[in-house]
Amino acid sequence: MTKFIVPKEIYHGVGSLENLKELKGKKAVIVIGGNSVKRNGVLEQVQNILTSGKIEFAVFGGVEADPSIDTVIKGAEFFTQEQPDIIIGLGGCSAIDAAKAMWVYYEYPDSKLEELAQAFSVPSLRNKAMFVAIPSTSGTGTEITGLAVITDKQKNVKFPIVSHELTPDVAIIDGNLCTSMPKSVTANTGLDALSHAVEAYVSNIADVYNDALAKSALEIIFENLPKAYNNPKDINARQLMHDASCMAGMAFTNVWLGIVHSISHQVGGVFGVPHGCANAILMPNVVRFNSKATNKYEDLAKSLGKESSEDLALKLEDLRSQVGVASSFSETGISLKDWEENLDTMVQNALNDPCTLFNPRKLNFDDMKAVFQACYSGEILSL
Ligand SMILES: NC(=O)c1ccc[n+]([C@@H]2O[C@H](COP(=O)([O-])OP(=O)(O)OC[C@H]3O[C@@H](n4cnc5c(N)ncnc54)[C@H](O)[C@@H]3O)[C@@H](O)[C@H]2O)c1
Ligand SMILES: [Zn+2]
Repeated sequence: MTKFIVPKEIYHGVGSLENLKELKGKKAVIVIGGNSVKRNGVLEQVQNILTSGKIEFAVFGGVEADPSIDTVIKGAEFFTQEQPDIIIGLGGCSAIDAAKAMWVYYEYPDSKLEELAQAFSVPSLRNKAMFVAIPSTSGTGTEITGLAVITDKQKNVKFPIVSHELTPDVAIIDGNLCTSMPKSVTANTGLDALSHAVEAYVSNIADVYNDALAKSALEIIFENLPKAYNNPKDINARQLMHDASCMAGMAFTNVWLGIVHSISHQVGGVFGVPHGCANAILMPNVVRFNSKATNKYEDLAKSLGKESSEDLALKLEDLRSQVGVASSFSETGISLKDWEENLDTMVQNALNDPCTLFNPRKLNFDDMKAVFQACYSGEILSL
């Protein structure tokens, strides 16, 4: 027996932002990142819709990429001062994840995020506020997931806080918000969504519900990511990418991910490689490694008109180069010296990452190290 959890309300389609007017509440705090939602007019649009619904609002801005514990604490203090009954995470996943963690502190001021991360549990939320997620990147699926990724900037590690309590109450998937995304963000986040589809599909707890979502998401992404990348204003491709990211998010929040994410969390934390870029570097070799333990990659290859797991690895490499993403960690500018100095710690942390538990092939320290090394140099892994 298993269960499938997603937000209670998902509004999707071009213009679905308007559904914000359905919210019931007195005061919203809108959490945003940098200035992209100001520049593209989306913040103003959200404020106008709230005003027309007679909902007061305040804005907490300046959440950085890969948000820190300090930012989360500052945001929670702002919540305590403003007393919202609606929290709106608006923008890239960094802003939305930070808002989720602030929500935990707002409801439980004595929380310790790292302890919650280790316990895989969050106490019951929604005593003070509900949560609305409005993503402006088509990648992580945070609008759907019971997950918030926070970075400890002192220790250079990212830690995921995991609990279905963090699943937003309302998700709004409006492709209009994505047309301003720069090409590199479109590429990295789109490949992140693809990695969610591929990893959820082969998870060792995968089931038919999540398989259907993951496979469709993969097909949509292969067709539409190059379109959105080459023509950022192609609203049809943007909406489909946004939908696919959400579908891949539904799959992975229910059946988890694998070692692409275990490794990417380390390389992102230590070297700041963008999450989707790291995943795209890792995916082909992880397909090769895991294909010794599962034949499910062949299904994915077939849905792309191909046959074997190696065909899928090659399709992933081809899509990655079509959207201008690096093919190895050395190509992202990490020096061999820095890589080697951090390697054993990253390998050990990747083994301990919760995603490793759901990988279809079990692995030891040497196996994990071999995957890291092949993806640093860009070699084809044959383990
Ligand atoms: N919560 C989850 O389920 C989950 C899953 C995977 C990864 N993550 C985490 O998510 C973070 C990455 O999030 P992300 O990939 O969405 O990137 P991001 O939120 O860090 O944004 C990347 C950059 O793009 C800009 N941007 C975002 N939307 C834009 C738009 N429409 N127009 C112009 N600029 C825009 C942002 O201002 C930022 O500079 C990482 O910390 C990663 O570890 C979370
Ligand atoms: Zn991811």
